[in-house]
Amino acid sequence: MAPRPEEPESLHPGLAEPRTKEDWFDYVFYEPPPRPQLPPYDTYMAMDKEDPERRRLIHSRNRYHSALVLAWTPAVQYFESEITELLAANEMAPPGARLSLLIDGPPTVGKSTLVKMIGRKFEQALRKDFPERFAPERQGAYVPVVYVSLTDQVTPKQISLAIARYLNVPTSGTKDAVDDRVLTSLTACGTQLLIFDDLHFLDCSHKEGRASNDHIKFLANHAPCTIIGTGVDLEDSPLLSEGGPTGPVKRNTRVKSPPRNGPRTQTAGRFSRQELAPFALDSKPEILQWVGVVNSLENALALYRHEKKSLTRRHWRYLHDRTNGSIAGLHALLRRSAVRAVKQGTEAVTREIMDSIVLSYAHERAYAKVVELQSRPSAKSRSKLDKKPSAADGSA
Ligand SMILES: Nc1ncnc2c1ncn2[C@@H]1O[C@H](COP(=O)(O)OP(=O)(O)OP(=O)(O)O)[C@@H](O)[C@H]1O
Ligand SMILES: [Mg+2]
Repeated sequence: MAPRPEEPESLHPGLAEPRTKEDWFDYVFYEPPPRPQLPPYDTYMAMDKEDPERRRLIHSRNRYHSALVLAWTPAVQYFESEITELLAANEMAPPGARLSLLIDGPPTVGKSTLVKMIGRKFEQALRKDFPERFAPERQGAYVPVVYVSLTDQVTPKQISLAIARYLNVPTSGTKDAVDDRVLTSLTACGTQLLIFDDLHFLDCSHKEGRASNDHIKFLANHAPCTIIGTGVDLEDSPLLSEGGPTGPVKRNTRVKSPPRNGPRTQTAGRFSRQELAPFALDSKPEILQWVGVVNSLENALALYRHEKKSLTRRHWRYLHDRTNGSIAGLHALLRRSAVRAVKQGTEAVTREIMDSIVLSYAHERAYAKVVELQSRPSAKSRSKLDKKPSAADGSA
């Protein structure tokens, strides 16, 4: 991929939710801050607190920890494989034959991050394989990935307007006029992957819900793209059903859409639905997945005195309890702890530091319940498991 001119440190290209193709290109090129080069610990400790070099080192470590790494979790890898296959199977398929995918999951399981990581990697591969399509003289005319983050109570027209703004297409005129321009430019831009994030924001009122559903079907039929949608409780969205009881939900796995009894919609015939759930610890493979994620985030810490693999080996269950198996909670807890460890000079993420961090309301509520359950006599044997070494960290 062609290198981009260096961005000043004070700017945040690639960090905000992309709203235009230029934002998306920034995201594709965005590289998180590299691991800072640290002087020996003694040298660091000998620096005066006001030494500009020491302050610079603290600043760069905070920047680095604030991004930490994004983990290619088993779920991310699974969906990457699914989406790549769909893209290949849909590339020259006729209208109406293209199958699309909905990724359904509760808040903060990493849905948006996942689709952006996959979309970014897909475009990076295209940039490598077909550099001529991205030549500067084409001035961004090729836009293989369109990422649209929906806003609440979004209507069909707003969906088209969001795509129009993304592609720099005029937004004036009637819905039909905008739709027409949007379809023309999705085709002209060679868009292959059309991502709708937060699809649960579709207006679910009876009239608008029906219209939104029809609109997504219209786009799926007429735009030569593979559509990937994410959202919360999509099974209840007008996209899939007009009512009826939901099927069972499995944790920490991707499952094929279970049957539901309500009348099927037309989009339900075009989208598969799979779930993304928080990590669970109900079986050995699930435990190994969680430990593997803890391990990859722990390996990324840039701290002088952090005991290697202490989180992976000793605190993996505590981390699950604290975060309810949420990747967002885990990422937040380690980011905050690392910043605090640098600030306090302990230079290690310890149980004490993690205990002192207040996470989101939802995570703290869930943890309070776990603590309450653990205080019951029957739960005593559980804590022993927390220290058991695991095959995933290579220590078993
Ligand atoms: N693969 C990952 N590796 C590391 N951290 C991640 C990963 N995925 C998500 N996170 C962390 O979790 C945070 C929330 O993730 P994200 O916004 O993708 O969740 P979401 O499921 O889209 O949530 P919502 O339903 O609220 O939109 C991210 O900002 C990041 O800090
Ligand atoms: Mg999201």
